[in-house]
Amino acid sequence: MADIILDVSDLNIEFHDHDKPETVVFDFDLTLEKGEIVGIVGESGSGKSMSALAIAGLLKRHALTKTGRIMFDGHDLLTCDRDTLRSYQGDEIAIIFQEPMTSLNPVKKIGWQVEECLRIHHKDMSKQERKEKAVNMLDSVGIHEPEKVYNMYPHELSGGMRQRVMIAAAMIADPQILIADEPTTALDVTVQEQIVELLRKLNREKQTSIIFISHDLSLVSRLCQRVLVMNKGYVVETGKTEDVFKRPREEYTKRLIAAIPKIDI
Ligand SMILES: Nc1ncnc2c1ncn2[C@@H]1O[C@H](COP(=O)(O)OP(=O)(O)OP(=O)(O)O)[C@@H](O)[C@H]1O
Ligand SMILES: [Mg+2]
Repeated sequence: MADIILDVSDLNIEFHDHDKPETVVFDFDLTLEKGEIVGIVGESGSGKSMSALAIAGLLKRHALTKTGRIMFDGHDLLTCDRDTLRSYQGDEIAIIFQEPMTSLNPVKKIGWQVEECLRIHHKDMSKQERKEKAVNMLDSVGIHEPEKVYNMYPHELSGGMRQRVMIAAAMIADPQILIADEPTTALDVTVQEQIVELLRKLNREKQTSIIFISHDLSLVSRLCQRVLVMNKGYVVETGKTEDVFKRPREEYTKRLIAAIPKIDI
């Protein structure tokens, strides 16, 4: 039987910070196998990030309710105690976002940021060990002269390099799940390809399961084995990426696919 490491069922997310409550994710289901890459696509506002943040345990606890189950390692992440949730955050379930400049601290050196998760979750590790791991990680995400970059600041790097640093920071503790929420949107096409290739390499080498959120259906079709299509908070279609993109059942999916610009040269 497949090794299921994450099992999300009937997840509903509702906001209360306006006059009337607003549900933004309805009955979201997702199972993730070890080593699997699953894509989430859908128009802006369809609930992709909210679902991802819920899985990462990063939705603010006030001003909203969540129902359903997010089962990971025998715990329901929606109801488990704070310490249990914190022990997974970053260490077992890591997340990267679109714009690394907002996630990186501008006044802290790259090395310090890459090591953050080790400082929080692996307190017994020596300074030297942390540095060694960070430099190795920078190397394995394709950063040249990792020793030098270790001592640099975010503004000294290009956008693509910063995203590599974010991936290094997310992967340093060898998480079981990496959630990538539009990790390539702010990057040019060649750099996008490199980042996708890097995710594929980490997935292959470490068997990390990946949830990849993107508006780029072409990237999703090349990277993800399965895909979820979201519309207005609902998962409207799901299946093997090839089946969904080649033979979409839902009108909405057909429209998404039809909206991909085709360039004839
Ligand atoms: N604080 C909030 N209160 C109420 N509704 C919110 C709040 N934050 C986000 N939403 C709504 O939640 C819905 C889902 O947003 P989400 O960020 O998950 O969309 P998305 O699919 O990631 O879109 P995008 O592709 O633009 O990133 C949107 O309709 C958004 O307006
Ligand atoms: Mg989003």
